[in-house]
Amino acid sequence: MITILHGNLIHAPSFGTLETIPNGYLVLEDGIVQGIYPTLPEQFAACPVTDYGGGLIMPSFADLHLHAPQYPMLGMGMDLPLLDWLDTYTFRTEARFEDTDYARRVYRQLAEDLITSGTTRVAMFSSRHTDATLILMEELEKAGVTGYVGKVNMDRSAGLSQEKTEESISETLRWLENCHFDLVKPILTPRFTPSCTNELMAALGKLAAERDLPVQSHLSENAGEIALVGQLHPDCPQYWESYEKYGLWKDRTLMAHCVHSDSREQAAMAKAGVWAVHCAASNVNLCSGTAPVRELVEHGVHVALGSDIAGGDQLAMNKVIVMSIRASKIKQIETGAPFLTVPEAYYLGSTAGHTYFGGGAGFQSGHKLHAIVIDDSSLPEPTRELTLDERFERAIYLMDKRHIQAVYSEGVRRV
Ligand code: GUN
Ligand code: FE
Repeated sequence: MITILHGNLIHAPSFGTLETIPNGYLVLEDGIVQGIYPTLPEQFAACPVTDYGGGLIMPSFADLHLHAPQYPMLGMGMDLPLLDWLDTYTFRTEARFEDTDYARRVYRQLAEDLITSGTTRVAMFSSRHTDATLILMEELEKAGVTGYVGKVNMDRSAGLSQEKTEESISETLRWLENCHFDLVKPILTPRFTPSCTNELMAALGKLAAERDLPVQSHLSENAGEIALVGQLHPDCPQYWESYEKYGLWKDRTLMAHCVHSDSREQAAMAKAGVWAVHCAASNVNLCSGTAPVRELVEHGVHVALGSDIAGGDQLAMNKVIVMSIRASKIKQIETGAPFLTVPEAYYLGSTAGHTYFGGGAGFQSGHKLHAIVIDDSSLPEPTRELTLDERFERAIYLMDKRHIQAVYSEGVRRV
């Protein structure tokens, strides 16, 4: 079935490009983008049109790193560096997800908040709990949020949240057996090297290879963490090699942060096809540092953005995009590396993330539509008529849920 959306089309098909089609038409066939046009081709003249008038129709957001069981601690407890923050606040909060009724309530709200904020694809950490993880996947699917969720593995130095090694492996298998979702798929999730024994890392690496499963974890976020990994793995010259040793460093592995990744670590990422997920708000909140995003891109590393809830305090990806621009400006002040422009940062927070899941470049034909429609008419009245590029910039900086008029995920309107 053909459906047509009419409005101002804006997309960033590659890093640094922004294309605008004023008063354009986006033609969908069964939810799949058939094409985008400045005027409607004759052949579609009789098809129904959803008219968004002066609204901005743009690819939706993709959040490639967040922790669902940290949603209850959003906006709290960011006065400690990473390892103390984990011990003092995080592991305790996550332990609460033993309670499946509580998990259902929190995860339903999170799923609703994500989709209404325009985030339609995620790569998400759950807690160690199998049942709560399945509830999370179910709630995301119901809301129309797609992507990957991982039951977290942690059998060392994780306080209340710690598992026994055997249990961690058997619960991972039980979780995988029960993942029967269309839109939300499993991703193996060793929390990070300090919270996994060698035996657990080896078992997960084997499972990743046997079942061809993707992997997500954390890398080079904080100086104390990096020193700890050096003590735990004296045979590894760098942090990333503790993942490589166990088969977890592979094509499409997602590594959050990479704040302190030097050129050797970055080259290893580019070579293996490992993705860096930049989480600017979290890196500033926990005083971890500012990641070398421009350098990563120039080294040929795939980069996407993450909210890193709840080290990060903003779920809305436009705020995460803005934070990545601000962090890059601080980086420019420190090192001279050019800051991220708004189209560049928007690309990282939308299309870059979508392509991780096989999505198209912007509104590329042949891919299911993931899009938001923004009504910016209630923003401050400008002194003159703005160009679409200006309206785009302003929307990224200023919009919130109230301005999101519609959300499409996997070709279906969800909001
Ligand atoms: N490293 C290991 N676990 C975590 C976490 O929950 N948040 C962040 N920011 N870093 C981590
Ligand atoms: Fe994280």
